[in-house]
Amino acid sequence: MAPAHGADNGEVDVDFRLRARRDTVPLLPGTPSEVWRYDATLVDGPANTLSSINNSYPGPLIRLSRGQRVRATLENRLPEDTTVHWHGLHVPPDVDGQPRLPIKPGEDMAVTFDVRDRAGLYWYHPHPHGPDGGRVGFQSYAGLAGPLVIEDDIERGLALPGGEQELILILQDRSFAGDNALRYMDGMGAMMARMRGFFGDRVLVNGRPPRTRDVATRPYRLRILNGSNARIYKLAWSDGRPVTVIGTDGGLLAKPQRLAYVTLAPAQRVDVWLDLSGAQVGERLRLISDAYQTGMMGGMGAMMGRSALPAGARFDLLGLRVTDRVRDGRPLPPDLDSTPVLPAVTSDTPIRRFELGMRMMRGFFINGRQFEGATVADDEVVRLGQTEIWEFVNDTMMPHPMHVHGLQFAVVERRRMNDRRGWSGLDSGLVDAGLLDTVLVLPGERVRIALTFTDFEGLYLYHCHNMEHEDSGMMRYYRVRA
Ligand code: C2O
Ligand code: CU
Ligand code: CU
Repeated sequence: MAPAHGADNGEVDVDFRLRARRDTVPLLPGTPSEVWRYDATLVDGPANTLSSINNSYPGPLIRLSRGQRVRATLENRLPEDTTVHWHGLHVPPDVDGQPRLPIKPGEDMAVTFDVRDRAGLYWYHPHPHGPDGGRVGFQSYAGLAGPLVIEDDIERGLALPGGEQELILILQDRSFAGDNALRYMDGMGAMMARMRGFFGDRVLVNGRPPRTRDVATRPYRLRILNGSNARIYKLAWSDGRPVTVIGTDGGLLAKPQRLAYVTLAPAQRVDVWLDLSGAQVGERLRLISDAYQTGMMGGMGAMMGRSALPAGARFDLLGLRVTDRVRDGRPLPPDLDSTPVLPAVTSDTPIRRFELGMRMMRGFFINGRQFEGATVADDEVVRLGQTEIWEFVNDTMMPHPMHVHGLQFAVVERRRMNDRRGWSGLDSGLVDAGLLDTVLVLPGERVRIALTFTDFEGLYLYHCHNMEHEDSGMMRYYRVRA
């Protein structure tokens, strides 16, 4: 019997097995690459629950509905400990895939949970952290990450583009050795990479080099996940048309927003509407990541000569070629999901401050602390049912995408406090509307988020989602207490 977590009273709506294992898949032309990846089998539940992505390493797309009860049996067929974390989901601590509950090689673990979250794009990835540090960066780089979509009735009522018109895009950067072997941090660059985070030589979309798709004259929905270890994307259209955002980490916005570009930090998701109904057959459009300034860190990266695609570089992500004329004039709904979900903040809401700091050779800290396993300090205990404001103050030369487990939060204020250390060109693409589970805090910024700790008591994590930062200790537990 596998150890079981979560209230398991037998009856579930969806039952699947998710296996983490080694595999060999073709990523680039030529020799196939060795990867670690998830695959899954459906034991019980709707036939569309699992679908494979692009025949590469990303884990299967898991499609769930709000209200379903889910059992996942996690099988570790890797040579080291792992966990499976459901990033963004509001689930009990023991099914959250935290490092304190590792699955040993060869072992299984069953988790059961209810799908309580709003319709949106979430994801899953490993979260192990041993005595020598975290393995999140390594394991997800090796290929362990997959998308998870939740659907609900509100979203169904909007009849957003589906099927071929719904594109799930997982953005990741990778480096390869001559024989197409994935290369993570090694040699001289390793220390620098731990400070900056890992930057690969090229970008992969759904585990393959970017490609061009044939599309028709109709609306499309692009659901984009930044599954990269450290890279921030500046998403824009090659012809300069605005990017129409309909959702973020925690689901649909109340109303669409039009932006010149979208800043997507590691672990964040964005839901984009693209209307091609006025396009001509033969027309082409590219989704790109546009250039931005990264100050000192960028310079250091270039100096080390480690990445052919430094932070802030411009590159292509997806090509679209209009090949079909169809009549599908479905307009973008002016109102999306306006169910009130934002935590209610008053002048009495307590503010908890988190200073993001750096010490040379020792890495990054949160309030002077680094990860110490499942211990929490007095000021890391929160009350069940309480709404708080957490304020992240970034006094380092690097951006930190700050992530809180177990809930979705609202950004209530973003303020520039001091020197930006040369970072520029990302500000107006920050989408602070709606619900997020990860918020980018740029150098010199103070960002306030409002969060409410509902339903579950116990331990959760909060950390920087630059995976190399998190693995080197920029992560802590907090405790929800009744
Ligand atoms: Cu996406 Cu603590 O993780
Ligand atoms: Cu998470
Ligand atoms: Cu960080």
